[in-house]
Amino acid sequence: DAATRYEAESARVSQGVVESNHAGYSGSGFVNGDNAAGSYVEWTVQAASAGTATVALRYANGSTGNRPGDVSVNGAVVSAARAFGPTGAWSTWATSTLTVTLRAGANTIRVTAATAAGNPNLDHLDL
Ligand code: GCU
Ligand code: CA
Repeated sequence: DAATRYEAESARVSQGVVESNHAGYSGSGFVNGDNAAGSYVEWTVQAASAGTATVALRYANGSTGNRPGDVSVNGAVVSAARAFGPTGAWSTWATSTLTVTLRAGANTIRVTAATAAGNPNLDHLDL
């Protein structure tokens, strides 16, 4: 099936703001999380049936350092300190893809900054 897109600017944000000052995002903007450990974006996604699904996270990291994030599904970390490395510019976007196990119906997928550097800027999640 074609992926469903869930924009970060429509997701739940803790410690961050929606911005649109760097080109190349989908939708109306992206989330610039505070540069602090624990800041997060949480998407609520729908799965037609229980099982594995491929999640693609689009991000930009114009800094020179890694911006690791803990990816959790329904409250359980499934990818700890997942690397979101430099993309070269804040307007250069990359995709990080992982396989997750979902239950039928609503699921939460959260990316939480693992270090004081914060998350990369987050654009959307495709599922
Ligand atoms: C810059 C950039 C932001 C980014 C921030 C950061 O301020 O404009 O989009 O989020 O750096 O370092 O996280
Ligand atoms: Ca930031």
